[in-house]
Amino acid sequence: MSIVLSGIRPTGNLHLGNYFGALKNFKKMQHENECYFFIADYHSLTTHPTPDDLHGNVRQVLIEYLAAGIDPETATLYIQSDLPETAELYLLFNMNAYKGELERVTTFKDKARKQPDNVNAGLLTYPSLMAADILIHRAHKVPVGKDQEQHLEMTRTFAKRFNRLYKVDFFPEPVAYNFGEELIKIPGLDGSGKMSKSDDENSAIFLADEPKVISKKVMKAVTDAGPTKMNSPKSEPVENLFSLMKAVSEPETVQYFNDLYNKCEIRYGDLKKKLAEDIITFIEPIRERIKEISANDAYIKKVVKMGKEKAHISGSKTIKEVREIIGFREFN
Ligand code: TYM
Repeated sequence: MSIVLSGIRPTGNLHLGNYFGALKNFKKMQHENECYFFIADYHSLTTHPTPDDLHGNVRQVLIEYLAAGIDPETATLYIQSDLPETAELYLLFNMNAYKGELERVTTFKDKARKQPDNVNAGLLTYPSLMAADILIHRAHKVPVGKDQEQHLEMTRTFAKRFNRLYKVDFFPEPVAYNFGEELIKIPGLDGSGKMSKSDDENSAIFLADEPKVISKKVMKAVTDAGPTKMNSPKSEPVENLFSLMKAVSEPETVQYFNDLYNKCEIRYGDLKKKLAEDIITFIEPIRERIKEISANDAYIKKVVKMGKEKAHISGSKTIKEVREIIGFREFN
């Protein structure tokens, strides 16, 4: 049995990228493995130092995790700041994390470019906190999208470094994981780049979006002037629409539109209409559950309490052993 862990920052509603990158198929795996899902609220401070509504955002992500099918009785669903042992492990990893290697991380460089007035130490040490999240439960597999691959590489570096420094075989070397498939990048609707909550919000489809909103966003998606030669390669915006279709539609639907494209007979309006319908069908049950769970404060409170207790059992055990290994011992 593997230990599986996945996290999401509470900086906005969950979108299809989060779903396919971090959550798809876990319904099955949560019963076959020891699973931890958490809300990375400490991490959100690296980009949102004074969040408008941290509590509300954490609550929303928690609800969306549940609506997407996580069973809090089987898996451990918790809030990062409810497990302060994570912060201690982060501190310890930081003692052996080097400025040069942290500065080379692509997400750091991107964020530093995006927020030049706030290149804070949390942003630089983001990978050590992420390693602490994963290794506090000594997880083996981490369901994430392609954008997190480098962070996982850093996690392995910190795990190996700890084991080597202290001459132990304590931490596993966790791998980025997408349920047996390739790591995925769900594109946005604006023609380039990945689906993301921080960019133009018309570019992302959120799990809580109403059908009308979804149709409007998809119909406005960027395309091109259309193919002029048989079997010509697709431009990025069109390739992106096909990628979304591959995620939510039947393979025959994808094949049908692909054939039309290759024969230069495609009408992007028809493709978008079908894509919007399939996204709506895909999201509908999740959106309904979001509404139901949102109305049930007592249940939410119970889930948070249960998650905190379960996470603490595993987290406190790891930190106790880490303290022993490093040499923080009690006097007796
Ligand atoms: P975050 O909050 O940006 O995204 C949460 C998860 O969604 C995936 N994801 C995507 N996957 C495919 N296509 C996309 N367009 C897309 N957009 C987002 C992300 O890969 C991620 O799996 N650093 C993490 C949060 C985190 C974490 C962890 C994750 C903190 N500690 C420990 C795993 C383990 C992040 O910023 O995710």
